[in-house]
Amino acid sequence: MVMFKASRVETTPFDGQKPGTSGLRKKVKVFTQPNYLHNFVQSTFNALSAAKVKGATLVVSGDGRYFSKDAIQIIIKMSAANGVRRVWVGQNGLLSTPAVSAVIRERVGADGSKASGAFILTASHNPGGPHEDFGIKYNMENGGPAPEAITDKIYENTKTLKEYFIAEDLPDVDISATGITSFRGPEGEFDVDVFDSATDYVKLMKSIFDFQSIQKLLACPNFTFCYDALHGVAGAYAKPIFVDELGAQESSLINCTPKEDFGGGHPDPNLTYAKELVTRMGLNKEHPQDNPPEFGAAADGDADRNMVLGKRFFVTPSDSVAIIAANAVQAIPYFSSGLKGVARSMPTSAALDVVAKHLNLKFFEVPTGWKFFGNLMDAGLCSVCGEESFGTGSDHIREKDGIWAVLAWLSILAFRNKDNLDGKTLVTVEDIVRQHWATFGRHYYTRYDYENVDAGSAKELMAHLVKLQSSLPEVNKIIKGIQSDVSAVVKADEFEYKDPVDGSISKHQGIRYLFEDGSRLVFRLSGTGSEGATIRLYIEQYEKDSSKTGRDSQEALAPLVGVALKLSKMHEFTGRSAPTVIT
Ligand code: G6P
Ligand code: ZN
Repeated sequence: MVMFKASRVETTPFDGQKPGTSGLRKKVKVFTQPNYLHNFVQSTFNALSAAKVKGATLVVSGDGRYFSKDAIQIIIKMSAANGVRRVWVGQNGLLSTPAVSAVIRERVGADGSKASGAFILTASHNPGGPHEDFGIKYNMENGGPAPEAITDKIYENTKTLKEYFIAEDLPDVDISATGITSFRGPEGEFDVDVFDSATDYVKLMKSIFDFQSIQKLLACPNFTFCYDALHGVAGAYAKPIFVDELGAQESSLINCTPKEDFGGGHPDPNLTYAKELVTRMGLNKEHPQDNPPEFGAAADGDADRNMVLGKRFFVTPSDSVAIIAANAVQAIPYFSSGLKGVARSMPTSAALDVVAKHLNLKFFEVPTGWKFFGNLMDAGLCSVCGEESFGTGSDHIREKDGIWAVLAWLSILAFRNKDNLDGKTLVTVEDIVRQHWATFGRHYYTRYDYENVDAGSAKELMAHLVKLQSSLPEVNKIIKGIQSDVSAVVKADEFEYKDPVDGSISKHQGIRYLFEDGSRLVFRLSGTGSEGATIRLYIEQYEKDSSKTGRDSQEALAPLVGVALKLSKMHEFTGRSAPTVIT
């Protein structure tokens, strides 16, 4: 057995190693500075209780972006020197964020071991490559991101760190082949267990969904399917699940080879960045398609986000979670005994609220960020949740789950078509959405993103909007002057949340203008960008009259958009006459 020593290396702190709940995200050139990653990893070890380090089992993997392989070797060597007992690595360093969550919760090692945490190496939907982003975040033993108490402690540690520990003489471990390699160090044996990236996750999915019914749907001659992994880690799951288990054609998978630079693209599944899929699905007016697939979906770099499309039809994430909640009990075996409750983030449309009311379900509106759902789930209060930012998931794990969302939609389609698989008239994605609107009403919804705006100007715009809120008569006077036929603002505030489980209060979670007819304007600054500021403007309008739910959403929302842009003085503050992305 190869022996190793633990070396103590002196270091000095770096500024700005403050992790959010999505971890620490920086350009690769920042991460590759000598000691930069080391400092963050040691600060994390020092923030955890000794039991979570000494003798512990840790998962280390990610979306495979540039610098991941080097980072994995560094973290293995530091784990060894810090007394970790074993490190679990997905083959080639690949594990999607939801798969990491599943592995922490479900995987049992050959010797009965269970993981107590994970380093996930990802910058999610941000581009990858030598000039792009890298990221690292720590997840806890419930499978969810470290809570603020831990991330704050990590940050404090980064500011005073003087030393880290590393097994410099430990040879690099071959992570391209599965198997266990054992070493011996000062504190005893240390193992690196490289395992198949998909097995545990596939097993979990099979315990949630009725794979046979989905298989039948995919075998139906006029049900065509397309999945785009945008060269992210979802590609490592797409073939095992959609092709090997469910029988989809291999040609229905596009961009499903994980790449370190995501093929040069922006691995974010939305109408702007998932270009190839959007064109295939017949949604690109410049390239009309004769016969697009019936169902299309995409994932982001680490496969926790999803976009669902029908033939020439976009399903908004806000509608998607509402439709999944409305159909879950009938269509998905995991939920057959009922939903514990449902939840959405504040800027997500109120489509889910209407379903919750109708089904008499517990309902929660939380700030943006998956961690708020995790608390509700750990307390048994929430089964299904979602965000407008293309995140959908359930209490099967503690992260949002891109492939789960696709399987949920395929389950609903399979259920709706179960007596109809002879290939005659298929109930389509669009049918399901339109029927949903006819039953529950429609929340017309759009989001305008202004990316990479000057940070100072973005703050000024937000301050202006907060100031306006002090006088509703003044707000309504301005609005009438812009657009006389929109309803009046009845409430304006900054969203604040008191967590029903731990009682913690989160303030300043977005600026809201709530209208008498249920319409909403919400303004937020993104918490995930890496350059300048991103202003997000969310626009929503509720239509109950089923004869009016079929309009084009941009057209239906145009008056409210006009109000939002003028009320916020968007052009004056940012110099922008159009958003960078519209979803
Ligand atoms: C990440 C989080 C999501 C959150 C999103 C918001 O993806 O995991 O829970 O909704 O960021 O991003 P934003 O850029 O709007 O702050
Ligand atoms: Zn992601």
